[in-house]
Amino acid sequence: MTDADVTITPLENGPYLVKGPVTVLDADGSAYEVDRSTIALCRCGGSTSKPFCDGTHSKMGFDAAERAVRETDANKPPQ
Ligand code: FES
Repeated sequence: MTDADVTITPLENGPYLVKGPVTVLDADGSAYEVDRSTIALCRCGGSTSKPFCDGTHSKMGFDAAERAVRETDANKPPQ
């Protein structure tokens, strides 16, 4: 498996699902112990085990955008 085999997928109103061999570092550059090939990273801000998802997003009603916006759409003025 190479770095190119890593995928990051935003789950519907939930965490980023990261599949592949990754190293997760904290703000000081220290590595978290990760013993799984798939991890879920919190993007709602509510997890008590950041940076990992603990399911709190569903309790707080986290509402997120999951769809990629094409560059041509992003440059259009709002209608
Ligand atoms: S995304 Fe799941 S707790 Fe934040």
